[in-house]
Amino acid sequence: MHNLDQIVDAACAAFAATDDPDALEQIKAVYLGKSGRIPELLKGLAKLPPEERKAVGAAINRAKDAVGAALNARREAIRKMTLLTRLAEEALDVTLPGRGQARAGLHPVTRTLERIEALFRSIGFEVADGPEIEADFQNFTALNTPEDHPARSMHDTFYLQEESGEVAQGVLLRTHTSPIQVRYMQAHVARHAALEVMPEIRVIAPGRVYRVDSDATHSPMFHQVEGLWIGENISFADLKGVIGDFLRRFFESDDLQVRFRPSFFPFTEPSAEIDMAFMSGAHKGRWLEIAGCGMVHPNVLHHVNIDPEKYTGFAFGMGPDRLTMLRYGINDLRLFFDGDLRFLRQFV
Ligand code: DAH
Repeated sequence: MHNLDQIVDAACAAFAATDDPDALEQIKAVYLGKSGRIPELLKGLAKLPPEERKAVGAAINRAKDAVGAALNARREAIRKMTLLTRLAEEALDVTLPGRGQARAGLHPVTRTLERIEALFRSIGFEVADGPEIEADFQNFTALNTPEDHPARSMHDTFYLQEESGEVAQGVLLRTHTSPIQVRYMQAHVARHAALEVMPEIRVIAPGRVYRVDSDATHSPMFHQVEGLWIGENISFADLKGVIGDFLRRFFESDDLQVRFRPSFFPFTEPSAEIDMAFMSGAHKGRWLEIAGCGMVHPNVLHHVNIDPEKYTGFAFGMGPDRLTMLRYGINDLRLFFDGDLRFLRQFV
């Protein structure tokens, strides 16, 4: 039986000496496998005299159980060890501060647009939208722009191409927000066709516009806000009042002057450029052009089936990018569209 104890001890020592699960199973085969040490001993029982078989058999089985128990204990120990090692390797420090999300902010031009919308809403204007890919009719023709007007030239306007490379007939990126005037008036007339007196049109339309132009004060894409007020007896005086009030509220200052400088647009008559200047501060007395405007031309009203004998009104198109530059003291328009976070973060 001395031999049996040695076998059990050797097996236990071999189990203890490995921490590899595969190696452990191989050691198991040496002791408990089909022709392992212990099964071989059991096979030998047959050669013993019958009176010894029972006691020897029982002793061998105890040894087998002992080896089996040692094996299971080692398996469990290795499993735990492996788990602990993995946990240690994949440890997460749950006390680390999170990466978090940087605080986002609205683009300065978006802030301006929202501000303009809020101010005009407060005096009863609606806010309208229109397509950036526009038809020649709405962008030019309905706005009384002659066939040979320079704005139509390929040099100023982005025309769309067919897949063949041909210039698409009369399809372009809108060069101003004025076509929204046309679309809005067309829809308004259709909506109120049954009424004797057409309700007033009071609308602004902010949006992106496109021109073939690029330098410190011009970007091929920029923003405009169109304004339109049509009704009975709407005059140039109303235009001056609306614009002056708007600018004082926008800049939160009474210390600014507005001037209307005669100009020309095909879709207004008379037409003017609107300039403004602060009367104090760093840019005191420096006049800046911020919008075009005028009384809507009778031809435009004809194009959308509004009777110019009965209704009049004004329109304006202003540059919110310019207003944003003035409000925040920015001198290069391109900063708005470069997407440089060092610039944009200043507005968070
Ligand atoms: N559409 C003109 C432009 O882009 C701006 C403009 C001028 C709009 C006069 C108007 C207007 O509505 O009445 O230069």
